[in-house]
Amino acid sequence: MLVAGARPNFMKVAPIIKCIQRRNLANNGDGPSIAVTLVHTGQHYDAKMSTVFFQELGIPAPDVNLEVGSGSHAVQSANIMTRFEPVLVREQPDWLIVVGDVNSTMSCTLVASKLGIKVAHLEAGLRSFDRTMPEEINRLVTDVLADLLLTPSEDGNENLRREGIPEDKIKLVGNIMIDSLVENLPQSRASKILANLGILPGNFVYVTLHRPSNVDQKESIIPIMNELKRLSAQMPIIFPMHPRTQKMLAEFNISINDTPAVKILEPIGYHDSLCLTENARLVLTDSGGLQEESTYFRTPCLTLRPNTERPITITMGSNKLTTVKALSNDLVAIVQKPSRLGRIPEYWDGCASERVLNQLYQTYH
Ligand code: UD1
Repeated sequence: MLVAGARPNFMKVAPIIKCIQRRNLANNGDGPSIAVTLVHTGQHYDAKMSTVFFQELGIPAPDVNLEVGSGSHAVQSANIMTRFEPVLVREQPDWLIVVGDVNSTMSCTLVASKLGIKVAHLEAGLRSFDRTMPEEINRLVTDVLADLLLTPSEDGNENLRREGIPEDKIKLVGNIMIDSLVENLPQSRASKILANLGILPGNFVYVTLHRPSNVDQKESIIPIMNELKRLSAQMPIIFPMHPRTQKMLAEFNISINDTPAVKILEPIGYHDSLCLTENARLVLTDSGGLQEESTYFRTPCLTLRPNTERPITITMGSNKLTTVKALSNDLVAIVQKPSRLGRIPEYWDGCASERVLNQLYQTYH
């Protein structure tokens, strides 16, 4: 059984489903085939936050949708747990695979652990060491309970060892998001988004910001928006906006339509986002996924956060942490550098799903 709940989960479950389908086909009915149940928790529910990803990534419709919707962390997590428990009791999967670090990941892990169902956590071991982030709490809880910890990079293995997780539970499989990226390159390269927006490759900044620490308080979001307006004098800014960010701007009565060089869009689909990431002169983000995707494309990235759970994106050379105050200088410094920066980490190669399946098989027999 696979669980997906929020936008960044969808590109992580798609390659696993495809890999299972490939193996079942290759099997030709001779050996045991793998049955998959896909559960959507409904944490994200808007067409632009969910449906579009199922369509673009070719994910089959979920077998179960828990339809939990939005709420406080406690309400959302509790709803996921109470609705997920009967599904698990009924289906009794050999493995539950959870991905990433969202509330759905943690909540479903808790339920499965208490029912004695084995949990594999894909994207295990990442740590920002910042417990003010809800995702960090989700990562810690999920990893302490999971039976198999599938990591994207060696730093994840080290973090887990340090926390006392037995070595035989930790397996380096590489970055599953990159499987989706590699598979969808033909479609992203056919995207018309640059022409539609009237922008040229290498001459725009791709911005995404939605972390509560950046957008939930007036004191943080106002200086960020002001800085973006200033930066747009140097280069056009393309900013597809997460519903959380839209909601906060409306709540604080902040207008953003007065600067034409800051193009605010509705949330965009996966192929358009990959196209913007590959072609941007610079990505400015607080998203984990975009830090990784820009690393793969070797597009310079500034991460507007005091820390990252993905330090490999920095050590490989394409990513740098920044602050609102440092942003202007960092941007000037980056545009003096080559337009491609850094290296691609080991096992970010499009084959992570094969390694995940191999691990599950080995542990099963
Ligand atoms: C969640 C994840 C975060 C991930 C992000 C990607 C947690 C704790 N956070 O944050 O790690 O980076 O998804 O998007 O799980 N909303 C809509 N439509 C939707 C979904 C949400 O309008 O389809 C609005 C609602 O007002 C909601 C708010 O966005 O209250 C926040 O949604 P929520 O799922 O609580 O967290 P995200 O900020 O999206």
